[in-house]
Amino acid sequence: MAKEKPASAIPQHVAIIMDGNGRWAQKHHLPRLSGHEAGRKSVKQVVQAAMDHGVRYLTLYAFSVENWQRPREEVQGLMGLLRGVIREELREMGKEGIRLRTIGRQQDLPEAVREELERAIEETKANTRLDLILALSYGSRVEITEAMQALGREVKAGKLDPEKIREETIASYLYTHGMPDPDFLIRTSGEMRVSNFMLWQISYAEIYVTPVLWPDFGKKDFSDALADYAGRDRRFGGV
Ligand code: FPP
Repeated sequence: MAKEKPASAIPQHVAIIMDGNGRWAQKHHLPRLSGHEAGRKSVKQVVQAAMDHGVRYLTLYAFSVENWQRPREEVQGLMGLLRGVIREELREMGKEGIRLRTIGRQQDLPEAVREELERAIEETKANTRLDLILALSYGSRVEITEAMQALGREVKAGKLDPEKIREETIASYLYTHGMPDPDFLIRTSGEMRVSNFMLWQISYAEIYVTPVLWPDFGKKDFSDALADYAGRDRRFGGV
């Protein structure tokens, strides 16, 4: 009989830096946007695989604050893609028990995207099988900066004693308040960097970098990553 894995062998929260759409497109002599469209299929596969494995939170780095600097055509294409995905997948999310959430500066997004997002967030808020968190117009430094501004305002108003600021206090001002920190960070397409992604929250996360380009990353790749995680010895600074 197969030995049952202890619960900790499955990360509760997986965060993914989905990288390599552009390189995938180049490799196939296609425009960059085709790479993002192909990446959409991987998102679907990975969401399904996460649920199959019993992952409870999945955060996807879909658009960074830095990504606004890309050519207008690409930004518009990505926004259109995002809007389409949310609209087309809303029923499926309901059926599957997925709760959609976002982290990042939602106010930067085009109104049409925001409306679609707000509707999906509202309609899925009671779902409990998987929290699918999209990082949109997200940047970790801007997140921490905004948190410090809010914290500073509370101190100035006399509502918060600086001596009483704890790690939990800071965490409660971040976009991720109320969510557990990621246990596992996956980055596709081989780059060895964290790119301003959840810098506070990944303090103790295990990191996994695969050379596979995001549009080629499927269920099997996700399972392989989880198998690697299960073999890690997480000590959180202890022995
Ligand atoms: C990084 O590849 C990927 C992005 C900036 C966008 C990710 C978007 C998707 C996967 C589309 C669908 C997403 C959702 C959540 C519905 P890159 O363009 O930086 O690749 P490169 O480094 O090879 O140029």
